[in-house]
Amino acid sequence: MNGNLKIAIQKKGRLTEKSLELLKTCGFEIENYKERLFVSARNFKIDLLFLRDDDIPEYVQDGVADVGIVGGNVVEEKLVDVEVTRELGFGKCTLMFGIPEDVELNHPNELNGKVIATSYPNILNNYFRRHDISARIIGISGSVEIAPSLGVADYVCDIVSTGTTLKMNKLKKSLTVLESQALLIKSGKKALSEEKQKILVEFLRRIDSALTAKKSKYLMMNIPKNSLDVISQTLPSLKSPTILSLADPEMLAVHAVIPKDKFWEIIDDLKKYGASGILLLPIENMIV
Ligand code: PRP
Ligand code: ZN
Repeated sequence: MNGNLKIAIQKKGRLTEKSLELLKTCGFEIENYKERLFVSARNFKIDLLFLRDDDIPEYVQDGVADVGIVGGNVVEEKLVDVEVTRELGFGKCTLMFGIPEDVELNHPNELNGKVIATSYPNILNNYFRRHDISARIIGISGSVEIAPSLGVADYVCDIVSTGTTLKMNKLKKSLTVLESQALLIKSGKKALSEEKQKILVEFLRRIDSALTAKKSKYLMMNIPKNSLDVISQTLPSLKSPTILSLADPEMLAVHAVIPKDKFWEIIDDLKKYGASGILLLPIENMIV
């Protein structure tokens, strides 16, 4: 025991690369983890544990890991006592019903009497209880999508991200059960030591600045001096923009941090008011 904060992440799968990317953005130096189950950051008091995603909620609950990065779908399915510390905004996917291409399913009532194959029996059970439905659940741990063509189940209830897996099995999307994304979780029953609590506070500070940065972009452009007022009003800037003079006395350079999703809404107006040389740059970190 080295006193480091232990962070569980998925060993191999949908969330692995993005989880590591987030940690690196936070400034943690993590050496090549391939084939290792345990890695310490070189410059911060954290250790990474690489685990199967299905095991992460329980390990976090029991304090084997102090925090974990795992899909909301997995957390919801495991009946564990953990708290969601942050929603991380990546690994978005949907737990939904997949049905044969030639079938219609538009309302939960139509599930009565059906046989559903799923790796999420607990979530599905709850869903059926909520909607007062009596259907049979067949729990399968992998390759759920093949069940209808094998004649084992009518429909499946599984994670859909791109939809490729459903299509490959001649199934189509139907009703949604749960929207999911990567979460940072901690135990609901094991308290951290004072020392680890301190590491966690600094860890979260860095996670938060990385998450804020991800939602923002740095906009740079040149504008005619007489458009400054109207362009300033167009910018949904987080702070007031930086204005710089240029060699051409009729022109100004404007720099501003803007919400990423606003760029395409304002681009036409910027051009209309004479903006040129428009650059949109990623922001790696933002301290707020
Ligand atoms: C899910 C699901 C499908 C696939 C769907 O598995 O079981 O196999 O993803 O993704 P698609 O719509 O992009 O084709 P997941 O990656 O969660 O693997 P796991 O259950 O083995 O952890
Ligand atoms: Zn899994």
